[in-house]
Amino acid sequence: MHENTPEITDLILDAADKARRETDSEPEPEVTTQVNWPVQCTVGPGLEGAIACTSKVGYVNGTKGWLIYRGYDIFDLCAHSCFEEVSYLLLHGKLPTGAELESYKQKLFDYSNIVSVKRMLLGFPVEDMNTMAALRLGTLLMRQKQTYRDRNIAAMEANHEVLSSDEDSIPMETEPSGSHSAVYEFSRKTYRRPPGVESELRGSEGFESCYHLIAGLNTITGAVARIREGRMPLEPDPELSHAGNLLYLMTGRRPTPVEERIMDVALILHADHGMNASTFAAMVVASTLSDIYFSVGSGIAALSGPLHGGANEKVLHMLAEIAGPAEVDGWYEQQREKKRKIMGFGHRVYKAYDPRARVLGPLAEHLAKTNPEVEHLFGVAKRLETKVVQTLGEEKKIFPNVDFYSGIVYSSMGIPVELFTPIFAVSRVAGWTARVLEYLENNRIFRPRGVYVGEFDKKYVPVDERG
Ligand code: CMC
Repeated sequence: MHENTPEITDLILDAADKARRETDSEPEPEVTTQVNWPVQCTVGPGLEGAIACTSKVGYVNGTKGWLIYRGYDIFDLCAHSCFEEVSYLLLHGKLPTGAELESYKQKLFDYSNIVSVKRMLLGFPVEDMNTMAALRLGTLLMRQKQTYRDRNIAAMEANHEVLSSDEDSIPMETEPSGSHSAVYEFSRKTYRRPPGVESELRGSEGFESCYHLIAGLNTITGAVARIREGRMPLEPDPELSHAGNLLYLMTGRRPTPVEERIMDVALILHADHGMNASTFAAMVVASTLSDIYFSVGSGIAALSGPLHGGANEKVLHMLAEIAGPAEVDGWYEQQREKKRKIMGFGHRVYKAYDPRARVLGPLAEHLAKTNPEVEHLFGVAKRLETKVVQTLGEEKKIFPNVDFYSGIVYSSMGIPVELFTPIFAVSRVAGWTARVLEYLENNRIFRPRGVYVGEFDKKYVPVDERG
């Protein structure tokens, strides 16, 4: 499949070999095929150790450093597969046949043409927005198109019942703002959801909505990148893969085969990762029988934080604080004294080297060789890794995670830092949707408990007596 980029395949296979050698002495995990509820588990703060569901989508083994999607090892998938195949695998539980893959790729391409969503995005101050906020906005606009406008457009327009999201109907104030009688034009219309929309939304958790979201997040990320630069969003190119289009839509430049392949590998690596915070957020929302667009919107919000997907941006800012490899040791000692966390290191589950960082590190190094600026950055990162592994690795089993080298990879392709976390979402949407679909097959609303440690029996004091 990857005859044009054998050097990338070799780097991945080398990383896989190294991983197997280094974790060989760790015990093999016990295989669990059935769980009898209720289960007993010890729960720590941040739900550490809590078991929330069973899943066949993916598996993370923190001591062996394994990441498995639907039974397939992540290194194998990176070496031989592509993101389209992997996202199909996550959603459907099996690798596609040739015909299924072709038809799925075509679907993704067709769904990536979200022209009206891009047009709506242009009406918002995307250039001033946090990129994850813009991505979330675009996702919710996709929901609007998928539901009210596209599906029920005829009925809605015939009845003049529903507020249109089209720019022609941007609400007009009829009185100066602040006047008690000021009204918006649309408030004169009856705002009533047509019957059937609610159930259609609930029915939208099918595969088509997942494909729509996987395709759409790619296009929105590209559009956000372009609008931030004061340029018009581009149309996806049918000649390019999903990863190639992501690069093209963001940068306006058709990627080289190596860049396209490396972005593809990055997307494969980020596609799913157990019950991580954003996946859990997406599942919690879905469990209320909300819908998958809201669910993915929540996943995006959770992913944006610096302890999760937002760490990839923070890593680059952190590396920029360090003048060069020779300054790493001094800088690191200062951080240790201040008890600052080192971004891109540590993980709730991995107590071994994160397999995703094992792949991304050598890919970053490969790209850095042809880009002096990135080479410098890579030199700093490599030295920092050595220092952290020698110290925190020994003391607390803290190693680089997926976010440590991904930013260097993206930087070397000319992608601005603000787009790193949206790229993570472009990939993770596959895991979010796969796990939401799986959970909804046997849904039960998520509703954990907190332990109340507050007071009782306090007497209400009127405000003017509170002093
Ligand atoms: N640098 C320094 N010390 C660390 C780090 C770090 N990056 N991560 C954990 N520790 C220490 C922490 O100070 C604590 O020490 P002690 O027991 O002495 O108080 C111990 O390790 C356990 O840390 P924790 O914060 O309780 O662990 P957690 O499981 O709650 O958090 C984490 C996991 C990923 C949020 C955390 O390691 C962290 O904040 N890392 C930096 C941010 C980061 O890179 N996030 C990306 C995570 S991987 C990809 C993703 O999910 O998006």
